Amino acid sequence: MKKSRILGTGHYVPENVVTNEDLLKRLNTSDEWIQQRTGVRERRFCPPNTKPSEIAHKAILKALEASGLQETDIDFIICTTQTPEHFFPGTGCYIQQRLGIPGVPALDVRDQCTGFLYGLSVADAYIRLGQYQKILLVSTEIHSTGLEWSDHGRHVSVLFGDGAAAVILGESEGEEHGIIDVDLHADGSFADELCLSAPGTAYDPWISHEMIDQGLHYPKMNGKVVFKEAVSCITRVSKTILKENQMSVEDLDYFIPHQANMRITEAVVKITGMNPEKVDNSIQKYGNCASASVPIALDEAVRDGRIQSGDTVLMATFASGFTWGAALMKW
Ligand code: ACO
Repeated sequence: MKKSRILGTGHYVPENVVTNEDLLKRLNTSDEWIQQRTGVRERRFCPPNTKPSEIAHKAILKALEASGLQETDIDFIICTTQTPEHFFPGTGCYIQQRLGIPGVPALDVRDQCTGFLYGLSVADAYIRLGQYQKILLVSTEIHSTGLEWSDHGRHVSVLFGDGAAAVILGESEGEEHGIIDVDLHADGSFADELCLSAPGTAYDPWISHEMIDQGLHYPKMNGKVVFKEAVSCITRVSKTILKENQMSVEDLDYFIPHQANMRITEAVVKITGMNPEKVDNSIQKYGNCASASVPIALDEAVRDGRIQSGDTVLMATFASGFTWGAALMKW
């Protein structure tokens, strides 16, 4: 049976650092409130009119370089985003255009912050089947231009940042490296607890002045429900995937949870008994970059040596939907 592995990683975040203090110009908030409740100290915001495919392209070039491959080696594209360039076509098509590889299939995955893991499972399956050989999985998010800068939306707006990350997957030559398992879940009964509902075909017309006046084009979140379910789902899926693969938290060399909120990560770490020194907390620097959060953290940890060849790495996410999942791999 073939096995897939990540051949190279790359990420890009915009240069513009926006601290909590900087947000005081837009919002009635405080550095203390944001840090205490979320752990976020700063995030990156793109310059006006930046496109998700543009920052994705910058991340992809780094991932290609790291994997020793070229654009023309890619035979399948998977793009994950909760902030698509347009309603349609999919952002993957814009990315393909930038890469200059017409004809290569481009699949958009819309599972919000769990998108990277859903995409990873698709890429892993295609490579195991031998259907595609070099798959680009890219996650790209621009939140900064769609947040509600008012008291009503401030519990959401302080969380998010912009960024993109890419990985290239191919067949693993040996048994010792590669994706071990991916475990995915969803529960649509929570769909309204965290959503951005307009424009949408649920409405006639899809968008109107009245809907904009009601703020339906901004993200809406029931923070307390999200917190509780995120802790419970990430904990459960992490324990399950370890157990199903005859491992325990002691076997982990590095854990990358979705960078939703540092308090969620801290609760998961406490309940599972993981070593906090082996847990990623890049939310402090980048905020919540949705589907790009996990691959940004992965790329940084690989590049600065926190993840070494042969390490056992667990990734686990939670998102609007609700969707959640985990992936285990040997680096
Ligand atoms: N600055 C200052 N005060 C604020 C802010 C802010 N940015 N936001 C809300 N407040 C105020 C509220 O107005 C309220 O004031 P009041 O008591 O005078 O009415 C008070 O703080 C408490 O507000 P809540 O919304 O009840 O705050 P809560 O304690 O629930 O914390 C938070 C909000 C941090 C969002 C919390 O619910 C949480 O961590 N939830 C998890 C959500 C999350 O992590 N989402 C990630 C994105 S989704 C994803 O990636 C899956």
